[in-house]
Amino acid sequence: MKKDEGAPETRLIHTRKARLDRVTVNPPVERASTVVFRDEAGLYGPKPTYGRMGLTVHRELEAAMGELEGAAHTRLAGNGLQACALAIATCVVSGDHLLFTDAAYGPTARFCEKRLKAMGVTAERFDPRSTADLESRLRPETKAIFLESPGSLTFEIADLPAIAALAKPHGIRVIMDNTWGVGLHYQPLALGADISVQALTKYVVGHADAFAGAVMTNDSGLQVKLAACSEDWGITLAPDDAYLALRGLRSLKTRLKAHEAAGLEIAHWLAARPEVQSVLHPALPVCADHALWKRDFTGSNGLFSIILKPVPEGALERFFEALTLFGLGFSWGGFESLVIPCDQQLTRMNGHWSDMARGPLLRFHIGLEAVNDLKSDLDAGFRALSAD
Ligand SMILES: Cc1ncc(COP(=O)(O)O)c(C=O)c1O
Repeated sequence: MKKDEGAPETRLIHTRKARLDRVTVNPPVERASTVVFRDEAGLYGPKPTYGRMGLTVHRELEAAMGELEGAAHTRLAGNGLQACALAIATCVVSGDHLLFTDAAYGPTARFCEKRLKAMGVTAERFDPRSTADLESRLRPETKAIFLESPGSLTFEIADLPAIAALAKPHGIRVIMDNTWGVGLHYQPLALGADISVQALTKYVVGHADAFAGAVMTNDSGLQVKLAACSEDWGITLAPDDAYLALRGLRSLKTRLKAHEAAGLEIAHWLAARPEVQSVLHPALPVCADHALWKRDFTGSNGLFSIILKPVPEGALERFFEALTLFGLGFSWGGFESLVIPCDQQLTRMNGHWSDMARGPLLRFHIGLEAVNDLKSDLDAGFRALSAD
């Protein structure tokens, strides 16, 4: 079989063969700022001449991310937020207008509203559930649309092909944060996006022990601009973290399958609980946007939210205190289960999200523990929630 044939998980494992002629399975981690050459020609040659440009392990990771996302070009970054900022800043200049989803990851939204504003770019939110709302906000100076699908915390799915069809005739660039879809379950570039971005910190690294980000495109003109922007800002990824991301990629599909199966089982179980008002998980048929998810995605993972029925004061604190397996933590994609209350960080258009009377919004990440143990843990939490 040729190296560019086979299933995605096979290609993810064998990308190194295109690059290395060595006996080690994994690439070396060159901890280097300085690269020395024997002659002057090398110093000014085409090869990486300084560690900031990345060395062997970075080239390996770029190749593997290209396989994952169906991308010809990959640019690495130090974390997911930096990758989002790089992608956006590459597509807009002073005087331009950017539309971004109201369901974007909070720090990405903050970058758009504060940092871009300081750079002379107007950033405006749109309703993640309405392509018509997005269309009504297009201006002659709109140069880019930033999407995240599903949306952070609230899991709205974007109609990417429809949005790309709106954007293309006007030369508007479409950027997708594909951290949830991970490339294995969602291929934004094939569905019309110009750029796909991932926080590799999540499922790719998979063990909650490193930061990394990546920006992928098939547009060589965009790649030149991405490279220039990245170099001018000095964006770099530490070699040890690049190594951890690459190692995580090799087992990504197997881990993701386990997260997906456990996530679905817990989501269905939560949906049947009397304390739960609704579950926000696009793979559940009862959820809004399920049809779009089914059309465009090939799978899910362990990250979803629930809305509880209204609870008395102090009940939520008791729920969290009773949990022993679920940690209260702001990340996801690792092997451990996590939960966070979300209402404190929901900063949405018009200052609110969902004006119907509702209880607290909680986001869960289902890790790799035994599902029955996780259910017992949640059961204890719900008992504490309902105790007087
Ligand atoms: C959807 C999404 N995009 C981007 C990021 C940023 O990633 P990082 O923490 O690596 O900067 C996060 C982090 O939680 C995220 O959830």
